[in-house]
Amino acid sequence: MKAAEIRESFLSFFESKGCHRLPSSSLIPDDPSLLLTSAGMVQFKPVFLGLRDLGFTRATTCQKCARTTDIDIIGTTGRHHSFFEMLGNFSFGDYFKSEACAWAYEYSTQVLGLDADRLWFSIYEDDDEAEAIWRDEVGVPANRIVRMGAKDNFWSAGPTGPCGPCSELYYDQGPEVGCGSADCAPGCDCDRFLEYWNLVFMQYDRAEDGTLTPLPKQNIDTGMGLERVAAIMQGVHSNFETDIVRGIMEVAEDITGAKYGVTEKTDTSLRIIADHARAVTFLISDGVLPSNEGRGYVLRRLLRRAVRHGRLLGVEKAFLGRLVDEVVTRMGDAYPEIRERHDLVSRIVASEEERFGTTLRQGLVFLGEEIERTKAAGSAVLDGTLAFALHDTYGFPYELTAEIAAEVGLAVDKAAFDVEMDAQKDRARAAVKDDSWSAFGNAFAEIGKRLSGGVEFLGYGAEEGDSTVAGIIADGRSVASIEAGTKAEVVLAATPFYGEQGGQVGDTGSISAGSARFDVSDTRIPMPGLISHVGTLESGSLAVGDNVHAAIDSARRARIRRNHTATHILHWALRKVIGEHVHQSGSLVTPDRLRFDFTHFEAPGAEQLEKIERLVNAKIMENHPVRNYETSLASAREMGVTALFGEKYGDIVRVLEVGNFSKELCGGTHVGRSSEIGFLKIVSEGSVGANLRRIEAVTSFGALEYVYAEEATLGELAGALKARHTELPAKVEAMQRRLKETEAALAEAKRRSFGGADGDALFAETPAGYGVVVTRHDGLDSDDLRAAADALRERQPDGAVVMASVRDGKVLLLAAGSPGAVSAGFDAGAVIRAMAPHVGGGGGGKPAMAQAGGKDPAGIDAALDAARELLGVR
Ligand code: ALA
Repeated sequence: MKAAEIRESFLSFFESKGCHRLPSSSLIPDDPSLLLTSAGMVQFKPVFLGLRDLGFTRATTCQKCARTTDIDIIGTTGRHHSFFEMLGNFSFGDYFKSEACAWAYEYSTQVLGLDADRLWFSIYEDDDEAEAIWRDEVGVPANRIVRMGAKDNFWSAGPTGPCGPCSELYYDQGPEVGCGSADCAPGCDCDRFLEYWNLVFMQYDRAEDGTLTPLPKQNIDTGMGLERVAAIMQGVHSNFETDIVRGIMEVAEDITGAKYGVTEKTDTSLRIIADHARAVTFLISDGVLPSNEGRGYVLRRLLRRAVRHGRLLGVEKAFLGRLVDEVVTRMGDAYPEIRERHDLVSRIVASEEERFGTTLRQGLVFLGEEIERTKAAGSAVLDGTLAFALHDTYGFPYELTAEIAAEVGLAVDKAAFDVEMDAQKDRARAAVKDDSWSAFGNAFAEIGKRLSGGVEFLGYGAEEGDSTVAGIIADGRSVASIEAGTKAEVVLAATPFYGEQGGQVGDTGSISAGSARFDVSDTRIPMPGLISHVGTLESGSLAVGDNVHAAIDSARRARIRRNHTATHILHWALRKVIGEHVHQSGSLVTPDRLRFDFTHFEAPGAEQLEKIERLVNAKIMENHPVRNYETSLASAREMGVTALFGEKYGDIVRVLEVGNFSKELCGGTHVGRSSEIGFLKIVSEGSVGANLRRIEAVTSFGALEYVYAEEATLGELAGALKARHTELPAKVEAMQRRLKETEAALAEAKRRSFGGADGDALFAETPAGYGVVVTRHDGLDSDDLRAAADALRERQPDGAVVMASVRDGKVLLLAAGSPGAVSAGFDAGAVIRAMAPHVGGGGGGKPAMAQAGGKDPAGIDAALDAARELLGVR
């Protein structure tokens, strides 16, 4: 059986058991306590916790999963992956252990046709019930049921949240595969007993302190590794030899020239390249971009580890792009998103690979120097903190450093490396907000449980409506009522208020009941399904259960609506003009403006921006109908609807269509026809990170205000220049030209008046026998003044200069003497001190050079006279 057949047979088998077939959710989980989606149950956590009701109680999925806790093992075994597919079936308070076990056995033996004599079953050490089910209901031999401890048979997705005992199915690959030890059995580290299916009996919610609280209902969560089952079905002993992974590894063989199955070392590198290429393709397609933290760092590590192993196999040029192509070819049918984002993935991989190529070279230089230093110091051990610096700054995995050091006979202090690494991991962990579902502002969780269908959103059609208060939260606690003056969050059973989501800001408005009036300053979604009104009770009192009337600020919503629909048209126009690699990576829709972030690799030119803007406005004016409706995710996909980068969607999704050109999944609020937007004006465009650009724009009245403001500026300019608007450019250009000419003429004049022949005439002979010029030249700054003094002194090498200038209403004074003049008694400092008081200033200096500033230009003549007096040249 090919992997694709296994996938399909599993999903249809469980459909026949009444399970709803749902699509895989994104690798980016809708759960702040997890970095990546690591199991099929992640999208169902709120359902297990009783916070959410899907409207059905049985489901089956094939989930994309990423696990990187054991990244260093990946490649060295045939069964670990950074990316893999998990087939699962789920019960939300419906069927339990008996059915889960019976169906797993039925599927394994009847559909897959596995030899029943090769199957083994592990159970949690004290789960007698599971043993009885396997033995008495399913009928498996008692000697093939083994009990194991919590490490193997108690499962949870993270430190907190839903969890429970589990039972696993193992397939015996035969003694020839194993370690040969007499007590080899499921749980042994060798490859003989392959664990392929985990059945989790979800019964508890684990709190931060470890206490287990029974969940509202008993649930089932199972996970079967597709690659492992494919290996069993295809009679190979490594997932890498199955049809889905082998083909990708073949491309790696072709690129590197290495053959699989020759040495363990090259096999490891080939497996790493194939495995990581899959993970990289899927992660980028789901919206992860390389960075130095969180998921972006996971992606970067995988990418670099793959590149490094390419280097180890002798590939110097960029090669990951070809592997991405192969992943898309092989898996694009099952996961259309990787086909849609193919271009984007290729470009990001190429730019990251190139970037790493450079740091790899720089890192090798740095390492070379440190090796020399270590050897010169007579040491045989390279400092572990250096290995960490290489890892951290140059992206060198530890083994690369160790390997290069070993080549020149040096060991690396691994302990010191680990200390740094652990410290970094702690920092990383601290950075992931631990806001796990069960810890979810417990107050909201409680309200959520009471409203198990969630809050009904009335706001697609209505701007006001009647409802009841379902919960009130003040000071972080759920309270029964509040009095006037209290800041609080109010949850209603139904509301026309839109909670901030998908970039659209929350509504404002008011909730009233009799004399009570609660002013809503913001609306948010504290957890899926809940809409919470943030504000202050201005008058009266409000209690849970009260009947209320809720009304949004309609004018504000109208502006938001126009900006939101405009965002969709802009998105469409960007792809049309710039290219299909443009994907929305974020947006903000407020009443005043819209902001749109998208993937692109260079700044669009002014011409391109104009083209985009014209296209958007043409679509606005064509007055297209805007339609908003619900459908299943699967049919939305079939219709070619654009799903947003990294967003999570349930089974039922909302589609927003503008005319017949833009189709996107969107839960926001929109105009009825495109012409309501009025018109759109782009006000800025810039970079917001590697491969990310941002456009800001305004529409309707906002655009009008923008144009008025621009016009006002132009009007002021035209008034000042006494020209018509259209004449402004020519006028400014002429002025600039004249200014340049005037500046040049002025510079020339200065040069001539001080350095030219006419300078001589100004000198007067002092009684001491040296020449001095005492003069005023306005408009010079202190640099000009110094230059003028130098020019004058050149004319009289043994003379002295005293100058004054008025510039911008301030006085500058300068006195300077040649060595000859100074030895004949000239003292610039004394001259300045005699002058400064006349201009209301102060200053001084040495005999050869002194300067002062003053604020009273009226006293300049008196100051110059004082200088002449002192020097005896009156
Ligand atoms: N959630 C369980 C696992 O990942 C099935 O093993």
